[in-house]
Amino acid sequence: MAIEALGFVIVQTGKLDDWDVFLGDVVGAMRVDSTDGAARHYRIDDRPFRFRLVEGAEERFLAAAYRLDSLASLDALAERLAAAGHDVVFGDAEAAAARFVDSYFSVHDPAGNGLEFYCGDRTADEPFVSPVGVERFVTGGLGMGHAVFAAPDYEASYAFYHDLIGFHDTDLANFKFLPDPSVPGVRFAFLHADNARHHSLAIGELPPTPVGCNHLMLEVPTRADVDACNERMNKAGVPESSTMGMHTNDKMVSFYMQCPSGFDVEIGSDGLVLDPATWTPTAFDTPSEWGHEWAWQKALAEQLGQGD
Ligand SMILES: [Fe+2]
Repeated sequence: MAIEALGFVIVQTGKLDDWDVFLGDVVGAMRVDSTDGAARHYRIDDRPFRFRLVEGAEERFLAAAYRLDSLASLDALAERLAAAGHDVVFGDAEAAAARFVDSYFSVHDPAGNGLEFYCGDRTADEPFVSPVGVERFVTGGLGMGHAVFAAPDYEASYAFYHDLIGFHDTDLANFKFLPDPSVPGVRFAFLHADNARHHSLAIGELPPTPVGCNHLMLEVPTRADVDACNERMNKAGVPESSTMGMHTNDKMVSFYMQCPSGFDVEIGSDGLVLDPATWTPTAFDTPSEWGHEWAWQKALAEQLGQGD
């Protein structure tokens, strides 16, 4: 069985207009009509969509959808998950067609985060054209990007993703977010699919996130593309969650911003590309080599400064 890549995400939102500004004007994604009329689709490459937005009262990241190499792999994974007591729900032919896949099922991780697994994929007839001139996103064999989920029960989530599903270790980190050595670190597992992207999925020992996702990462080819997106974020008044910085483990230069549904979207470039056949997992204790000052850290620093 091979987990080929992160294929697309599904988000439920009551803020379709805000999402239109966010994905179109800031990220640079291309809005297209969905075939079923029940959703809004946005493209970042030649896949018919990478974002599927469905309208709903609650803001909710419904699923990160990962593509498997075959129907046999999909059935085998569904069987394994069901045997382990997870609720596996196959979509019908209409729902599969709306996703441009052959077959898929949905399941939730131990923290309640939504996932889909599918096989079969499609290519759009029309070329990708960004409304703000983004030439391209880094996708292809590396997939859409990566998704990061909170894992309050870290062991249970790690066993689910690594042992049961079959994602592979890239970096098993223990991040010290504060300089005080008596404060314990926060465990993260950065896991790769069967492709060369440093991680297609990560879990962090974080409190539960009701919206269903910590962040989603999209990669652009150059630092200049990242800077341009950061400027579009400022112009659109989208809140920045973290300043520009470079991650220690995947060397990605990136910033984070808050999407209309409340989780973060990371835009980065120059992510490390690995050879999945020979990779030896790392174990870093710092998330970033430089930068990445989080909004909460900024607020804390300002508060402490006022207390002097
Ligand atoms: Fe990330």
